[in-house]
Amino acid sequence: MALMELRDVSMTFEIGGGLFAPKRYVQAVVHANLLIDEGDILALVGESGCGKTTLGRIITGLQKPTSGEVLFRGKNIWKISREEFRQYRLGVQIVHQDSFAALNPVRTIFHTLSAPMLRHGIAKNRQEAWEKAADLLRTMGLTPPEVFLDEKYPHQLSGGQRQRVVLARAVSVQPRLIVADEPVSMVDVSLRLALLDLMAKLNRELNIAFVYITHDLATARYFAQKGKIAVMYLGQIVETGPLGKVLNRPRHPYLQALLTAVPVPDPELTRKHFELPLRTMDMPDPTSPPPGCRFHTRCPYYEPICTTEVPVLKSIGNGHKVACHLEHKIPEWQPLDAEV
Ligand SMILES: Nc1ncnc2c1ncn2[C@@H]1O[C@H](COP(=O)(O)OP(=O)(O)OP(=O)(O)O)[C@@H](O)[C@H]1O
Ligand code: SF4
Ligand SMILES: [Mg+2]
Repeated sequence: MALMELRDVSMTFEIGGGLFAPKRYVQAVVHANLLIDEGDILALVGESGCGKTTLGRIITGLQKPTSGEVLFRGKNIWKISREEFRQYRLGVQIVHQDSFAALNPVRTIFHTLSAPMLRHGIAKNRQEAWEKAADLLRTMGLTPPEVFLDEKYPHQLSGGQRQRVVLARAVSVQPRLIVADEPVSMVDVSLRLALLDLMAKLNRELNIAFVYITHDLATARYFAQKGKIAVMYLGQIVETGPLGKVLNRPRHPYLQALLTAVPVPDPELTRKHFELPLRTMDMPDPTSPPPGCRFHTRCPYYEPICTTEVPVLKSIGNGHKVACHLEHKIPEWQPLDAEV
């Protein structure tokens, strides 16, 4: 049984609807299906506004989807008892990009870390909470822990240190899954890889599964190299599968276009730009998405069927799935330097 499963999940937001503004609707997530097993790493990738955060909030139970089922260990989270829901909410934690907003400025780091452990009976008393908090800080590379626990407040820490405290607080309640929503985007560039390495260590040593939400394919490739990727476009998962397989042989024109724009950090793999001329760089208005394939207004390969029929994710082998009517016709993606 999967740790988490999303079955045909959609989320529509209503916006506007004032005296002079008619109501409009944004389909932030459209018919999403996902499986997350114990210890999995899934990178959820796409441009701003494609629905990544909404999907992350649905996975964490912070947002009830308009339709579809969200299952934790096989049980629909919106139909379980209060106690089961409490257990699920402890088991699935979320970490946001803004560590400053996530931490209470008037709480010491000890107060921040001990409160959830005491509340949920993970530590029986203050002394035990102290020891567990110190262990957590050591795991997070914040040493010596005494310096941080009683003396420090969030504003006295660097962005990278604060994000480690936020991760420590998430880990303190012994979760099975952490949804990390752009966790490194507000951290100094030089510290990003170290934070991703820390999350990889938590995955390896504590077998905590991660959903890593990012608009940045380079960090997705780095963090989820042994995991899976799901690429979203305007609310829809358009390509998914084992990350290495998908990025080495991207089949959806949108992912091919995204890859042309991303330099790979590993110099061995550095790719020069491969031109995939999009019909337009403009993102459609999410309140009136294009009919049929939502990418057809930008896709260089589109044909009439693309404007009328919605493509669904289809398996092309080895766990790799693509939502494109013309997948069989789309040219293999070649980085430019491999062609010369
Ligand atoms: N509470 C809300 N009310 C109305 N619309 C919303 C709400 N939350 C999200 N949306 C809309 O849903 C769409 C998806 O938003 P979401 O924040 O999930 O995207 P995202 O991929 O996380 O973007 P970003 O990379 O900028 O964080 C957007 O069009 C957004 O404006
Ligand atoms: S379905 Fe058509 S428009 Fe959509 S990505 Fe495939 S070829 Fe392009
Ligand atoms: Mg977001």
